[in-house]
Amino acid sequence: MRAVSLFRERFGGEPDGTWLAPGRANLMGEHTDYNEGFVLPFALGQGVTAAASQRAGRRLTVCSRQAPGDAVEVDLDGLAPGRVTGWAAYPAGVAWALEAAGHRLPGACIAIDSDVPAGAGLSSSAALECATALALTSLAGLDVPRAELVTIARRAENEFAGVPTGIMDQSASLLCRAGHALLLDCRTLETSQVPFDPAAGGAGLLLINTRARHELADGEYGRRRAECEEAARRLGIRSLRDLTDLADTGSLTDPVLRRRVRHVFTDNQRVLEVVALLRASPGPSPGPSADTYREIGRLLTQAHASLRDDFEVSWPEADAAVEAAVGAGAYGARMIGGGFGGSVLALVPAAADQGSGPGSGAVRGAVTAAFARHGWTAPEFLDAAPSDSARELSG
Ligand code: GLA
Repeated sequence: MRAVSLFRERFGGEPDGTWLAPGRANLMGEHTDYNEGFVLPFALGQGVTAAASQRAGRRLTVCSRQAPGDAVEVDLDGLAPGRVTGWAAYPAGVAWALEAAGHRLPGACIAIDSDVPAGAGLSSSAALECATALALTSLAGLDVPRAELVTIARRAENEFAGVPTGIMDQSASLLCRAGHALLLDCRTLETSQVPFDPAAGGAGLLLINTRARHELADGEYGRRRAECEEAARRLGIRSLRDLTDLADTGSLTDPVLRRRVRHVFTDNQRVLEVVALLRASPGPSPGPSADTYREIGRLLTQAHASLRDDFEVSWPEADAAVEAAVGAGAYGARMIGGGFGGSVLALVPAAADQGSGPGSGAVRGAVTAAFARHGWTAPEFLDAAPSDSARELSG
């Protein structure tokens, strides 16, 4: 394990334990979490690994294979938002949020490794937070319920790292189960596991990292949030979740706000439609029929159009990837995550995704060719299998 070898190199000796927290993809429900709506993410096989040991005193030292250079050392008693910047703000923020919630931590040394591509919209930062949260609580001998760790990790991201995200990514990393997507009601925080294992039923999930820049902190994400809040205020409702009929938006005269509202409303509906389709399928075997996947795919592509035209968070590489994937036989595809860069998720019949080399299979080939035509950096493909949430690794 690369985190363990990094630990040995940097700190000497063996770590007390190693914890893994996955990145996530989202099947449906984008920009719905902070509107108190529904999301349907699943955990990826790719994740962040933290090899860690307790140490005497109150110093926390973190190093990462993805951030060559000096380890970052902080004093647990001196942590405050703004004091730590860069990647180390995420683990330090988790320590801060845990202590703020009353969980006393020991000093620790943590070595981090990740195979979630950074900037690909696959929540590498949430995975970093969740791996750190599990490592620190386990070292302290604390048994903090997962639901509480979700809110602690989110607090680290929002208040310590200063990124105003919703609750989807940390929930996915800490609560998902292999072979399932997680239906999360972002108002009540109720969750339920929805069987979702395309590989068992002749289909596949392909992630296309468009390699375009992904920056949530750059203002556009916050602007969308503010627009949604403003629309809810003008409609006289607590959040866009409370809208039950699009016809009730007649009083919204601003065409931009109307489009934002239409996206959130229809994406919430699409989450529930996908859940109903999956739940109606005979599972786990043989699982959903090709017709069901076709229907889910249609909803995915519809969601992409909504994110592109109504919410206006897509980007050219994502639009081209969706078009090429669907043209080459994918059931459907859409951008995932906050937008303005990152990845596209395609649901594909197994036959359209044979082979694992770059560009092999009809869908990969068509997307690669489309990027080459535009002169863009070649995309990166990742298989996305709904996987287990964060856990301690043995050995
Ligand atoms: C980012 C945020 C999430 C969510 C998505 C959009 O991934 O971290 O909370 O808002 O964007 O659905």
